[in-house]
Amino acid sequence: MTDDARPAGFQGYHQVLQASEDIELTHVGRGTPCGEYMRRFWQPVAMSDELGELPLLVRLLDETLVLFRDGGGRVGLLHRHCAHRGASLEYGIVAERGIVCCYHGWHYDVDGTLIKAGSEPPDSPICARVVQGAYPVHEHNGIVFAYLGPPEQKPPFPVYDTDQSSDAQRKPFSITTPCNWLQVYENTQDPIHVLHLHARSSGVQFGVASGVDQVLDYEETPLGMINIQTRHIGDCLWTRTTESILPNVNQTGAIWEEAERPKFFQRVAILRWMVPVDNTTTRTIGWRFLSPVLDPRGQDDPAKIGKESIDFIGQTGDERDYAERQRQPGDYEAQVSQRPIAVHALENRAASDAGVARLRRLLRHNIRALAAGNPVEPPDRFGLDAVPTYTQDTVARWCGSAPPDNVALRAQGRRVAEAVLSSAHLSAPAREAHIRAQCEDAGGA
Ligand code: FES
Ligand SMILES: [Fe+2]
Repeated sequence: MTDDARPAGFQGYHQVLQASEDIELTHVGRGTPCGEYMRRFWQPVAMSDELGELPLLVRLLDETLVLFRDGGGRVGLLHRHCAHRGASLEYGIVAERGIVCCYHGWHYDVDGTLIKAGSEPPDSPICARVVQGAYPVHEHNGIVFAYLGPPEQKPPFPVYDTDQSSDAQRKPFSITTPCNWLQVYENTQDPIHVLHLHARSSGVQFGVASGVDQVLDYEETPLGMINIQTRHIGDCLWTRTTESILPNVNQTGAIWEEAERPKFFQRVAILRWMVPVDNTTTRTIGWRFLSPVLDPRGQDDPAKIGKESIDFIGQTGDERDYAERQRQPGDYEAQVSQRPIAVHALENRAASDAGVARLRRLLRHNIRALAAGNPVEPPDRFGLDAVPTYTQDTVARWCGSAPPDNVALRAQGRRVAEAVLSSAHLSAPAREAHIRAQCEDAGGA
């Protein structure tokens, strides 16, 4: 491009600084298109460890709620303001069964039904007339999930194959990020940032191999989409598929993967939900999976995994001072600084944003389909016990006579992705064997 073809410089004064937000994808309150879509899925609301003797005030999908575990061990998630005259149930007394409002003693069960209306006579008709707002919860491996949608559309709780069959140790964690949920979520389908932010800008923050340039591709899955990253490492080709399970689940492979030896269909180190707390706050809640297979060098640090803490760099705002975060920014700095809600109309998206654009398209399509009256269908289990997923690492020997070019890298990426997608109906060992058979000896005759 000649200099004449570029816009003139010093255009600060003329630059457009404001534009409308992409409300359809970013706002999550009740009645908004995205908020209604999110309400058709189970969402994590807290880690089980956060539930102590006192009620917990929580925010989810722009609603303020009170979460508690009663004396019988049952978990309740109720609207904050008591149906009587509005006192907050965060000051309620947790009972053997349900919770009692502090102000006039109205006693609610975990489903919000009124057991006793304080000093009203036991046969008062008020109990048949009043119900406190409540949502169903489901506790699973140390995380409390809630369903905030219409009860008649409540889907089965989705157990994913990586969750069900992982022989790794699992640790729940959560991280709060002060920005809109979508800019946290779409980071997954922006794999080019791994090369820039996590290698060139800040020095290598994850595995050394992750800083090697990659050929990228994208493919839709029955659950959402994957990106396909293929790199030439030593005498191998490493293909990582990284997954977005719509609307807001993400899985990632081993954090410090070095792709030093052949492997096929190695599963995930993280399964997490990027939960919209409100329009400008996101809470990531999920599990870290820890095992010698995923972490042969012992770089995991279980002591750092928990509430507002994770064992890899750049995910929170308070783990390092400002100057250090300026010198070596991480995901937190990049995402939060995109504004409280990134303004899509001010972006200049390029070819390398193909994954982000595709993810937004898929979300918009699903949000509009629901708004048009089409219910959200539960994911297909293909006759298996758990929902098959598509995140994995495969490392295959390169057998070509010359180093692989981008065409060869892309071809191997497509081969792996095709094998991963076409084997969803198989058990994990059969799936691994299928992928091995399809993908080993890349570049061979
Ligand atoms: S406000 Fe809750 S019992 Fe009166
Ligand atoms: Fe990142």
